[in-house]
Amino acid sequence: MNRRDTDTTNQDESGRPLDGRVAWVTGAARGQGRAHAQRLAADGAIVIATDLCDAPATTDYPGATPADLAETVELITADGGTVYSAVADCRDLDGLGEVLSTALEAVAPGGRLDVVVANAGIAGGAPIEVMTGHQFREMIDIDLTGVWNTVRVAVPHVLAAGNGGSIVLISSANGGLKAPPNLSHYAAAKHGVVGIVHSLANELGPRGIRVNSVHPTAVDTDMIHNDFTYRLFRPDLAEPTRDDVVDLFTSFHSLPVPWIDPADVSEAVAFLASDASRYITGVTMPIDAGLSAR
Ligand SMILES: NC(=O)c1ccc[n+]([C@@H]2O[C@H](COP(=O)([O-])OP(=O)(O)OC[C@H]3O[C@@H](n4cnc5c(N)ncnc54)[C@H](O)[C@@H]3O)[C@@H](O)[C@H]2O)c1
Repeated sequence: MNRRDTDTTNQDESGRPLDGRVAWVTGAARGQGRAHAQRLAADGAIVIATDLCDAPATTDYPGATPADLAETVELITADGGTVYSAVADCRDLDGLGEVLSTALEAVAPGGRLDVVVANAGIAGGAPIEVMTGHQFREMIDIDLTGVWNTVRVAVPHVLAAGNGGSIVLISSANGGLKAPPNLSHYAAAKHGVVGIVHSLANELGPRGIRVNSVHPTAVDTDMIHNDFTYRLFRPDLAEPTRDDVVDLFTSFHSLPVPWIDPADVSEAVAFLASDASRYITGVTMPIDAGLSAR
């Protein structure tokens, strides 16, 4: 971890939107979580970056590694940012709480937690008649319960600091009112996240904490770019490749792109984390190249 002197009482004086604030990003070893951590650090926040750094049992694509999380730290540090990293499984409520407390003690003793980005997640897919109970439970454990766990352990710190805060939950374009076939477990988890947003926006709003979700379409990360996903979407081909799914993924959107970049999602996360969105709460924001408009 690199520390820098930070005046935590004057948040905006140097001009960056998150100067003096502390942000926690889960699932930060790679992909979107890494991009969010980089962006929030570039916007001035001290970032706590956590990740499982392992492959959950039911996923069919490579998991993130400790080296990935170390690379997130290197990238942020090289850019002049401040980051504390730790391995933490969002399924483990008590363990997650201990990791967060230790992290906050290190980066902001007696201090604050302002921004929480519950991003950690897994994907998968199977027709209902072959999807196993284990697959369903692990999906719910990580993509829904893991999100709730993250908020559960974070909110007492945000409240104790007394500065208000912004909680951003990462749902999906499959977490609105639509979902494609073979994703019943993923869609259930991501729709469930919306329930957390709606309830907690009302519950925490009077205490100055905003709660919103973002709903990305396909994003160019390891989660979709793997042999398993290519086969799921192109069962007609023996060995489908990235090129073989471009047209199909493009057909989901009104804008002519097959997928978006992690940084495109980070733009929304950074906006929702900052005071630019200070009167926005309870919002479920699509970042979906027009998918939900079709
Ligand atoms: N890639 C997409 O097309 C897409 C689209 C919409 C939403 N999402 C969501 O965006 C979020 C980020 O996904 P991504 O695309 O960056 O995928 P990714 O697989 O690259 O990153 C997910 C990260 O979450 C971590 N993680 C998984 N299980 C965890 C656990 N139990 N505890 C802590 N960390 C855990 C992984 O190790 C990984 O680093 C996920 O919630 C995902 O569902 C992804």
